[in-house]
Amino acid sequence: MNHIVVKNYEDMSKQAAVIIASQILRKKNAIMGFATGSTPIGTYQELIRLYKEGILDFSAITSFNLDEYYGVPVTDTNSYRYFMEENLFSHVNIRKDATFVPSGMASDAQAECDRYEEMIQQAGGVDLQLLGIGHNGHIGFNEPDSHFPARTHLVELAQSTIEANARFYKTRDEVPKKAVTMGIGTIMKAKSVLLLAGGKDKADIVEKTIKGPITPAVPASILQLHQDVTIIQVL
Ligand code: PGA
Repeated sequence: MNHIVVKNYEDMSKQAAVIIASQILRKKNAIMGFATGSTPIGTYQELIRLYKEGILDFSAITSFNLDEYYGVPVTDTNSYRYFMEENLFSHVNIRKDATFVPSGMASDAQAECDRYEEMIQQAGGVDLQLLGIGHNGHIGFNEPDSHFPARTHLVELAQSTIEANARFYKTRDEVPKKAVTMGIGTIMKAKSVLLLAGGKDKADIVEKTIKGPITPAVPASILQLHQDVTIIQVL
């Protein structure tokens, strides 16, 4: 694992954007895996700046997002599709029909998960997967469990995740309890992985991710077995 420690959020965002930009410059039609959450927002702002300065061209890339709340329509400001439109897609020249986020509204969730997994593999797999990390070690919405889920699947969110997400809602009852997420196997198939962890509150889980036992109780710990992982951590 390549572990980079930076002193602030701005430095993390700049370094992450450089890694993503160099992937897109190396391969114009790269398959990108994008993430939501508060951590990558600064990275997306940097990518938008590079686009506006004429350095980056998104027109040939395809993107797959990690996850989406289940039961939340794309028009909902808390949906991850909405987040991506707001924070990246509407500001750059990415083709809308080349951006994929799992549907949170499919009546047959399993069929949607299978379709999404299939689409990623059909596209040739993700070249660079961007990840945040939850305080409980989740990546995507792969919560601590007794096994590492292989494929895109429907999950019940952990209580700690629901509590962490409550900051975006007026009442706790409104916070989604389920999500569709790429599996750990899906993430591990990405050719390279870039994990961002902002803030001292993530220091403990990053330490467990990098140095602790590889266990589904800390889902991100599986990344120790990936051959090309960069972790950028603010400390
Ligand atoms: P955050 O979420 O970026 O909002 O901290 C990260 C995550 O839970 O994966």
